[in-house]
Amino acid sequence: MISASRPAPAGVTVRVPAKVNLQLAVGQSGADGYHPLVTVFHAISLFDEVTVRSAEKTSLSVTGEDAAAVPRDRSNLAWKAASALVQAAGLRGSAVEIRIKKRIPVAAGLAGGSADAAATLVACNELWQTGLAPRELAELASGLGSDVPFALLGGTAVGRGRGEQLTPALAAGSYHWALAFGHEGLSTAEVYATCDRLRAARAASGDQPEPAEPELSHPLMTALRSGDPARVGPLLSNDLQPAALSLQPDLRRTLTAGREHGALGAIVSGSGPTCAFLASDAAHARELAVALTGSGVCRAVARASGPVPGAAVVRDPQPS
Ligand code: C5P
Repeated sequence: MISASRPAPAGVTVRVPAKVNLQLAVGQSGADGYHPLVTVFHAISLFDEVTVRSAEKTSLSVTGEDAAAVPRDRSNLAWKAASALVQAAGLRGSAVEIRIKKRIPVAAGLAGGSADAAATLVACNELWQTGLAPRELAELASGLGSDVPFALLGGTAVGRGRGEQLTPALAAGSYHWALAFGHEGLSTAEVYATCDRLRAARAASGDQPEPAEPELSHPLMTALRSGDPARVGPLLSNDLQPAALSLQPDLRRTLTAGREHGALGAIVSGSGPTCAFLASDAAHARELAVALTGSGVCRAVARASGPVPGAAVVRDPQPS
């Protein structure tokens, strides 16, 4: 549906956050090869920016963090997002120039690629004034990838299924984080496969098998409602962490360094290798970031806070 009421903008910029998983419970993989999840997503103030403009031919360019590692062709999830919207809105022949300004590192467990896809959906929806409702955008998003719907929604939310079935969660207050970026990325598929291997080895040695159905941590949800990071920190959990640590053993040193500097919680984010450290407040996050930088256990450190809203149009974008 094209709305005739507003003039079409020449270009649209959308800002979109990275996520960390406060809980990531992973079940046994099903027939489709995917693992059922229960996860608590939390959007943080580390943003990519996507700008779209009408063009004769679709193109994609990337600047900023890890730009060289991002594909610029139709294999990029952001390009797929634009194509999905063209299809869904019946806009055959529409093309778009997509510019991505990256601050979210690539293959880092922060859902940066999914974020760019979500931002492209929102930006093209505005550019072409397709008038799709948030629910319709969310449906397109889940067809693109498991983390894309959350990048649209933002805030703190429980994700089920592959993570695309979302329920907003009650979380009071603000949480301050130091993020330690790794030297090399991790492949999500490889981390899941390693998780399966480690579990099979544990089962063979007679250890308790993992439950097929992952479960939400109610103590974590209660702690989030209290708004007290000291209660939340010890309840952070990630079933993929042993797999990420087995693929990149140096991450243990990173997690230890954060804990030694007083992090309330220290966890690998998603499939890694980014390590997320929960601080008691903004000043503590700054101290943690300085200490982690000084300890030489990671490539770079950033600070962020959450929760923040999902992908949203920037009304006055700064010139790049
Ligand atoms: O969702 P995404 O495309 O990032 O997933 C990459 C790979 O990670 C999948 O192809 C699959 O091997 C693995 N995966 C999984 N279970 C999930 C999500 C991802 O096994 N819930």
